[in-house]
Amino acid sequence: MNITILEIKNLIKRYEEFLAVDNVNLSIKEGEIFGLLGPNGAGKTTIINCIIGLNRIDSGNIFVFGKDIKKNELEIKKHIGIVTQNVSLYYDLSAYDNLMYFGGLYGLKGKHLRECVYDALNFSGLYEERKRFPNEFSGGMLRRLNIACGIVHHPKLIIMDEPTASIDPQSRSHILDGIEKLNKDGATIIYTSHYMEEIERLCTDIAILDHGRIIAHGNKDELKSMVSEEEKVKIKLSSINYTLIDMIKAIYGVQECNMDENIAHIISSKGSKNLGTIIDLIVNSGIEILDINIEKPTIESVFLTLTGRTLRN
Ligand SMILES: Nc1ncnc2c1ncn2[C@@H]1O[C@H](COP(=O)(O)OP(=O)(O)O)[C@@H](O)[C@H]1O
Ligand SMILES: [Mg+2]
Repeated sequence: MNITILEIKNLIKRYEEFLAVDNVNLSIKEGEIFGLLGPNGAGKTTIINCIIGLNRIDSGNIFVFGKDIKKNELEIKKHIGIVTQNVSLYYDLSAYDNLMYFGGLYGLKGKHLRECVYDALNFSGLYEERKRFPNEFSGGMLRRLNIACGIVHHPKLIIMDEPTASIDPQSRSHILDGIEKLNKDGATIIYTSHYMEEIERLCTDIAILDHGRIIAHGNKDELKSMVSEEEKVKIKLSSINYTLIDMIKAIYGVQECNMDENIAHIISSKGSKNLGTIIDLIVNSGIEILDINIEKPTIESVFLTLTGRTLRN
């Protein structure tokens, strides 16, 4: 296993003088949900357009399924599903006919095409709406049809560019569930978003992009450990015992232990791995632990630390 599905090497893309993608390197393995997280204008869509051949590359190489996209564009495209940031559908065709059209573009025919179209309708929850036209659809339904058209041919690699932009929470949740299902069924997924909550929920591997550069890359824990200088835990106790507090304060790595009613707020230095010792001490003192809450840093805080900005300003 661990086959590389997509490899980007030293990618540079300019629009005239403007450097939109600044020497990006990425490697995406089979079975991943890879998250490309970055604020608006970071260069996410530009990178995707380079992968699918919509943008001319200034320098660098992109390999999909081990093949250079410059030489094997048509063959590679058959196995890629692309869900564009802007909904691209035919408004004079019904939902069903849009799917038949896109399936046909990917070379599907006859019975197999019809089966794929029904799969995509069921997947997107639009089966009942199949005869209706896009202009009768809500924003969320349009997004779902846009996704259905991108995956109708059961691609091995699915690239989704902000597929949940400006939609209602119910459609968003439907889409996120669907992406997890596609991944379980075997597709590798590249997902771009400026919503860190979505990336955090879905993605196994994450690259953070800012001003055309990858400023951080890793799994969630790796990214978070870049920023957390301390470990915070809140422990709710059945009663308070100040001798116990002093004993906790004396544990290796503990920087602070403050009581707020019957909740101990404990801050330890990074990597002190002393939670077990703290718990043992409490249990041995005969006090019951009612709740434990380990405070985790978020991906948002990684971005903030690295750039001094929030993702959405
Ligand atoms: N066709 C274009 N011509 C000139 N500049 C562009 C073009 N497309 C995008 N850009 C610029 O490149 C940068 C990256 O854009 P984009 O890839 O769309 O970012 P993202 O998808 O992360 O929001 C932005 O500053 C944007 O204004
Ligand atoms: Mg974009």
